[in-house]
Amino acid sequence: LFWNVHDMYAVDQNRWCIADDNLLDRTRSLQHIQTIAHFFVRELGLDEKALNVLFALHSVCEPTATVRRLQPRSQPWYLRRMKSRHVAIIMDGNGRWAKQRKLNRLSGHREGINSVREITRVAGEIGIKHLTLYTFSTENWLRPRLEVSALMRLLMGTIQGEINNLHKNNVRFTTIGDLGDLPGDTRKGIEKGIEKTRNNTGLNLNLALSYGSRQEILRAIKRIARDVRSGAIAPDEISEQTIINHLYTANMPDPDLLIRTGGEFRISN
Ligand code: IPE
Ligand code: IPE
Ligand code: MG
Repeated sequence: LFWNVHDMYAVDQNRWCIADDNLLDRTRSLQHIQTIAHFFVRELGLDEKALNVLFALHSVCEPTATVRRLQPRSQPWYLRRMKSRHVAIIMDGNGRWAKQRKLNRLSGHREGINSVREITRVAGEIGIKHLTLYTFSTENWLRPRLEVSALMRLLMGTIQGEINNLHKNNVRFTTIGDLGDLPGDTRKGIEKGIEKTRNNTGLNLNLALSYGSRQEILRAIKRIARDVRSGAIAPDEISEQTIINHLYTANMPDPDLLIRTGGEFRISN
């Protein structure tokens, strides 16, 4: 099982970090790391959130400060080469995290925010350019009404509470998804945050809110269809670039790494 694993660090009591030297074949390598990560969660009862956060960051970029302290000299080449890119995280498993601890789901969502705070801070520190966090999907509106409203309140409160700090740290806050679906006050709070941090040049923290990839494609098709109808573009002129330009992510590079926390080996919608 440990074959090919560059190193494994005990960062502190509950936090583990795995680095794999063989990132030439990135997909295989990540699967390999994930297998090991799951082994530790399952067999050793390690906290999967702590494991995921550090493992994710360590595999795309420079080690976190704690890890750097543990291993000051050697810095594998891929850690330098893979810097400054786009990391996307499907933030799943809050409910299960809470259930394991006999807490309610909301406590899991609150704990999720602590992970977000930590990963945002470290991502900024180590020079990742874009961090997309899948926060609320189009399907999540179908959850019980009380959970949805609690999530909206949590979202609103977190943005209000964190935005000054993000701004101070030069973070540019953006969103993808249909903000029009959100309750008015939540939407206004988010728009204020986007406006305030618009000209910042550090990390782009991008929240996917009321986002779905099918919804994104549908929106792009409708927009392109309108352009065709108005004569701005001919059907034969539609190219891959036209589609890219009409996605929410038009101004962002593609993600280099997609992480799904919570332990499932699949993407979302
Ligand atoms: C992700 O955690 C948070 C949101 C989708 C808002 P979940 O709430 O999906 O947690 P699990 O999957 O039930 O453990
Ligand atoms: C993942 O969690 C999506 C988000 C974090 C918004 P969910 O549990 O909501 O969704 P599935 O499992 O991908 O359907
Ligand atoms: Mg889930």
